[in-house]
Amino acid sequence: MKSKSLLKENRKFAPSVEFLERSNLKSFKANEKDYQKLRTAAQKNPTAYWTKQAKELKWIKPFKTALVWKHPFAKWFVGGKLNASENALDVHLEAHAHKAALIWEGEPGDTRTYTFLQLFLEVNKLANGLKSLGVKKGDVVGIYMGMVPEAVMAMLACARIGATHNVIFGGFSGEALRDRLNDSNAKCLLTQDGAFRRGAPSALKSAVNEVLNHVPSLKKVVVLKRTGQETPMAPGRDHWWHEVVAAQSNSCKAEAVDSEHPLFILYTSGSTGKPKGILHTTGGYLTQVKSSFKTVFGPQEKDLYFCSADIGWITGHSYITYGPLMNGTTVLLYEGAPTHPGPDRFWSLIAHHQVTILYTAPTAIRSFMKLGDEFVLRHNLSSLRLLGSVGEPINPEAWMWYHTVIGKKRCPIVDTWWQTETGAIMISPSPDSVTTKPGTATLPLPGILADVVDQNGKSCKANEGGFLVVKHPWPSMLRTIFGNKERYVAAYWNEYKKQRFYFTGDGARKDQDGYIWIMGRVDDVVNVSGHRLGTAEVESALVAHPKVAEAAVVAKPDDVKGSALVAFVTLKASAKVILDADPSGSTVAAQTIKDELKAWVAKEIGPIAKPDEIRLADALPKTRSGKIMRRLLREMVTTGKASGDTSTLEDFSVLEKLRASDEE
Ligand code: WTA
Repeated sequence: MKSKSLLKENRKFAPSVEFLERSNLKSFKANEKDYQKLRTAAQKNPTAYWTKQAKELKWIKPFKTALVWKHPFAKWFVGGKLNASENALDVHLEAHAHKAALIWEGEPGDTRTYTFLQLFLEVNKLANGLKSLGVKKGDVVGIYMGMVPEAVMAMLACARIGATHNVIFGGFSGEALRDRLNDSNAKCLLTQDGAFRRGAPSALKSAVNEVLNHVPSLKKVVVLKRTGQETPMAPGRDHWWHEVVAAQSNSCKAEAVDSEHPLFILYTSGSTGKPKGILHTTGGYLTQVKSSFKTVFGPQEKDLYFCSADIGWITGHSYITYGPLMNGTTVLLYEGAPTHPGPDRFWSLIAHHQVTILYTAPTAIRSFMKLGDEFVLRHNLSSLRLLGSVGEPINPEAWMWYHTVIGKKRCPIVDTWWQTETGAIMISPSPDSVTTKPGTATLPLPGILADVVDQNGKSCKANEGGFLVVKHPWPSMLRTIFGNKERYVAAYWNEYKKQRFYFTGDGARKDQDGYIWIMGRVDDVVNVSGHRLGTAEVESALVAHPKVAEAAVVAKPDDVKGSALVAFVTLKASAKVILDADPSGSTVAAQTIKDELKAWVAKEIGPIAKPDEIRLADALPKTRSGKIMRRLLREMVTTGKASGDTSTLEDFSVLEKLRASDEE
């Protein structure tokens, strides 16, 4: 079987002189050399590298052993005791007490700023409040909130008293909330009456009130008043946030917890079955999150860092709460929809607050592209110095748009590969030391032994498609799936049992420079006539076509080729106009566009990647975090219907419309 990745992308970008000057950095060549030296040494002895990074944290009791590795169970910094909230807040009180830690803007335009000292005091009060409700070290506390400063306080207050937080995305339904609270045996829930989204208050607590009666472990609910909407309160169980904290002292001793004490559980979907409760612990997680934030974003004293992820996802944990705060970086938090009240809200936020680092997702970048450049060009974005991307492969077209229209060719792009399971960024450029190429997350960070291997665990040759694995434990790795060790072993460690590699579930290739190109999830990697193809590559080619807004490609079993490719495509508004205006009826026009797209992919990647079928759709099914649900599309093309778990689907009507598009 030939196994080749066919997408060609040869553009290279070294950081601009302006970027280096603004950061007071040496010449790029010198940085590159130093960084390579650092990487080589760290790759040779990862444990020594991580030991050094761990010493950047504040330990209440120093650790004795850096790593205890009983495959596939790791313990990092054993014997040490520390506290996460102390590392995020207390450590800054001497030099940076009055520096802004959090600048928040609500969707209606209200703003609040908390200095490190103010945030510290609020967290202390809330921590005491939780204690007064009977929450103890080791208890699990659910957090079901929107993007308000109190959500960050909630995480840190749990950490302060050694409770384990379980943040459940505020957009999840009551059923999803109930299952996650029950699975984690949560004792307390922090929530709010509602949140502002797209111009209106949307209920949180009252929307889920009924399901809270079906969580037997749940003893207390704390409700933040944000919107003021009607909220039923159960006497004895439910308490208003402001009443809980009002009487509390603003001093709460940070609990010294073991390095391996569970800091949080975060549920994520697997390819099969119910969501997995990914368990992260304290010392290793904090070490790698702090160190990766430093390497990838190179924070400076005056930075204002804006991460558009929701705190309900791992990015919100590692790179809104813990990473930036541990580094003393000011975080901008925004409550609402990126396009409210107008399509330029993001850009006005950036210009108004003078954001210097923007960290967002390809799906957001593509939707901004689709809206048109004029909304960006209305605003002066010259404060930006660095751009980041996370969550899925960023196609070169979107990368170039991000680079030119947002970054004005001045700002390096850090494309960061990682997972809920890895806890922290694993593959990414360090922007002052690595040449970037559109579409690749470039090189593993120092101390990360990521590689692309074949089915037998052998390293692939350059440009040969294979599987992304990690060959050595890393500090912020998940420790287990909460309450399900067997599933932990089966999901990540069975594939390469003999070699003891962690299996990421992603397909990838390494190019001649050792840069890693993610080809999408393995279940999105398909064999067409003996060639291994990343559906992400085909999608990337499709969205590079001027008429295409978004594309999702899935495989359908084919007797002759093994797999046939089916592409679901949404068109840009300008192309839809052509379709609607066609006097012969839209079928002929649609067919013309489909043929044009097939020919385009054949030209961009090669005839082997040409989709066998193109279905034009109004929208694609997405999870609430914006990921296209290819699993549903795959099911639809194979069985003609989608029956699997749709609990994370954002808009159910999309499925109906897609089925209809089939019958055209
Ligand atoms: C994908 C998000 C390509 C990948 C932090 C991974 C990426 C999954 C990238 C994890 C990237 C994430 N380039 N693919 N820069 N970042 N992915 O758990 O398939 O929500 O396995 O974590 O997203 O998604 P998760």
